[in-house]
This record gives sequence, structure tokens and C-alpha cells, in this order.
Amino acid sequence: MFENPFTRYVARLTVVLFGVLLSCTSSFGQGPRGGGKLPDFIPADYDDYQHMLTRLGIKKMRPGRSGGGRDTSSEATANRFKDSLPDLMTFKNGDKVKSADQWSKRRAEIVEDFEREVYGRIPKKVPRVKWEVTKTTEGKSGGIATITRTLVGNVDNSAFPKIKVAIQASYTVPKDASGPVPIIIQFDFGFGSSRGGPNSWTQQALNKGWGYGTISPNSIQGDNSRLREGIIGLTNKGQPRSPEDWGALRAWAWGLGRLIDYFEGTRESGVDPKKVCITGVSRYGKAALVATAFDTRIAAGFVASSGAGGAKLFRRDFGELLENLAGRGEYHWMAGNFLKYAAEDSTFGKKTAADLPVDQHELIALCAPRLCLISYGIPEKGDPNWVDAHGSFMAAVLAGPVYRLLGKKDLGTPGNYLTDKMPAVDTLLGGELAWRQHSGGHTNTPNFPTFFEWAGKYISTPEATKKK
Ligand code: GCU
Repeated sequence: MFENPFTRYVARLTVVLFGVLLSCTSSFGQGPRGGGKLPDFIPADYDDYQHMLTRLGIKKMRPGRSGGGRDTSSEATANRFKDSLPDLMTFKNGDKVKSADQWSKRRAEIVEDFEREVYGRIPKKVPRVKWEVTKTTEGKSGGIATITRTLVGNVDNSAFPKIKVAIQASYTVPKDASGPVPIIIQFDFGFGSSRGGPNSWTQQALNKGWGYGTISPNSIQGDNSRLREGIIGLTNKGQPRSPEDWGALRAWAWGLGRLIDYFEGTRESGVDPKKVCITGVSRYGKAALVATAFDTRIAAGFVASSGAGGAKLFRRDFGELLENLAGRGEYHWMAGNFLKYAAEDSTFGKKTAADLPVDQHELIALCAPRLCLISYGIPEKGDPNWVDAHGSFMAAVLAGPVYRLLGKKDLGTPGNYLTDKMPAVDTLLGGELAWRQHSGGHTNTPNFPTFFEWAGKYISTPEATKKK
């Protein structure tokens, strides 16, 4: 990609510096408690994490693996929780799911468990979002005329004016499209950080006759423990969460849902609201999967290096653990109730991953029959062991029966998650549910060409927009 050694060096340096920044903080320079002054309705000594532990009756939490420890896990002991794995195809009452028409009922059971225990519920009355186009620019990219719109989604804060939420998003479509186009939206680390370059994913999108866009998760909900602020805080009028309330992953997915509302309600957007795809890396890979699982309007999820809380099974003692996600630096992604599963001592005793009513193969299955690509890099190039690519492959194998039940193609392996072999690096496996490990690091970039080729088999593009 970078032919000149100097640009290659600068690019590497940027990636390394960004990586260092990431590993030092959980919220990009803000630390787990976030930067900036606390608003006056939050006492200076308020500790949201401790507040939730007390509320749940938890006295002691088990720590997760830290630092390099996350990378030294052993495959030999990784599946010690396997006997408690919930069966995707069995209703809670023990009946088997036998036909496609029974799936919606089983799906609802799984959704309920994920909402209550893992990611939290979106409250019934979240204030409304009013979108405003703040800038429209015409341009040209790789010879294709484009229109870019910058949007702000102002959330109605009349019920609690001390919190202001303004969602930042932006999208670009080919100007001369003969009809509404498919679009790929990325949850962006630094808003707008992922643009440009002749081989960039954004150019690939345009060449394919697609649009592309980005949405800023932090503008929806901060990536830190300040859960009495952001959209979660605004909805609660500044009060702490209840144990079933949504965490940041669902809040980010909710924000994307509002952007889809905008496409649905704005024909002149140029975007086909039935062809919205979402991608993200790492924590935003988790968010992309959560979004695709819950919002059935999403056409495809391209879930990159998502690891724990994303596509890997929680019942895998390998790499990052449930206990990490339930710790101070990351619990804000999840529902309060999720903390119970890392409790070593509490009024309800001890719980582990084996007590979870669901696991991540069921989250992947919620995406069916829609498209889902689970993406990883390789440890040698910097997609670390803690992401547990194998644990995500297992989850994808286990999600297969639902894709097949609904007449779609799963990974197509024999179906034994413990023994099925991962495909060779740089080889796409599967149909509507697919899996691919590229030969790069902790990024989705090398998998974009495959994504567009794969998604293009199922999602059509208005003819005239494709690059000749
Ligand atoms: C941390 C976290 C991971 C997450 C990653 C990221 O390392 O433990 O779960 O995926 O940050 O988002 O980069």
C-alpha cells in the first residue's frame, strides 16, 4: 500500500503510536473514568462501578487476565466450561427447534437473555433524535463524482437539559448513481480517521457503486464509566443505571439505528436503507456484532477482531475473559447484570461464565438469515492471541444450524466446533455466515476487498454506478 519507504515508516509509526495509546487507556486519553469535569448533578466522589457492585450485592470480583497474560493462554485447557454451553436449537422448555417458523420464538428467548444479562435493554422512552445536515460537499474520488454529507443528530434533552447529546456522522455516495445505493458504515475510533487513499476501503466502496460512512461512538456514549452522561445518562435523567439498563455497546448500536432511521426517512439521502452494512474493529467490532444481532434492518455485519464480548465464546478460558469485560476498564460496555458472572463472593454466591444463560454463538445466530462476516488477522502480524480467533470460529460453527434452518449457507464445516478446522489464512469460508482470517494485524483493512466481493454476491448495486 505504501510504496515509498518513508511513507511506510510514517504509517507504521502512526499505527504503533496509536496502539500504545490504546493499550494505555480504555477510552483514548481519557482513562476509564473519562476526561473533563463532572457535571454538578454527579457527586465528585461518585464511583459508578462500585455503585453497581453494591446494588448487585457483590463483595468481591475475580480479576481478568492482564497485560501479556491475555496472550499466553493454553488451548489445552481452553474449553473447560464446554459442558454448560447452551444449545442454540433448544427452547427453554426443552423442546427442539425443528422448523424455520419456530425460529422467531426461540430468537425472542435469546434476545431476552442477552438484554437482561449481557448487553442491557434499550429503555422504552429514549429521547428522539433530530438529524441535521451541517455540510454538503461535492467531490471526486478515483474518478468518481461524490456527494458527502456531514450530519449531526441532536437528541431532545428538554427533559434533562444538563446533558447534551449530538451524534456525529458523515456519509458519501456516488453522485451519479441511478438509484439508492448500498452503504458500509464504520464505527470510527477517531471520527473520520479512516478515509482516503487509492486503495482505501472508501475508494473500494465507491468503485463498487456503494456509499460509505462513519459514525462516532463517543458522540453517542463516552467510552468510559460516565454512564450518568451520554445517551444512557440523558435517558435516565442523570441517574445511575439499573442492572438491566443498556451499556455502551448497545448505546453505540442504538445510534447507528437512528442513522438508519434517517436513511429510511430521507429518500434524497441516496442510500438504500435496506442495504446498510456495519463494520468496526475490536471494541467497535463488538459493537458491529451487537448492532447486527439486534437491529434486523442491518443487511450485513463485518465484525473485525471483536474478541471477548464480540464473536468469541465466553465459555473459553483463552485470552481476554468475561472477567476482563466485567472489570473497571470495560464494564461500561455491558449491562450491570453482566458483572454477576465475575462475582467471586456476593449475596448470591459465586458465578462464572458457565452460569451465563447464553453464549456468543447465539449472538451470531441472531444475525441470521442476514449476512455476517467474522474477521480476524493473525497473531504474527499483531492481531493478538487475546482476541481468541479460534473461540470466534467455534462460535460461528455453532451458529450454523440457524443459518441452515433459514435456508442460508453457514461455514459449511462438518459442524463439530471442537474439532472443525479453521480455514487457511486469507481464505474466506462460508456463505451468508462467513469467516476469514487475513494476513494482517488488529484491523479490518485487509479484509475489505473480500467483504465487498462477498457482500456483492447478496446485495445488488444499481448498475450505472459501478466503475466501468
Ligand atoms: C482492550 C480491550 C478489548 C478491546 C480493545 C480495543 O484491549 O480489552 O476487549 O477489544 O481494547 O477495542 O482495542
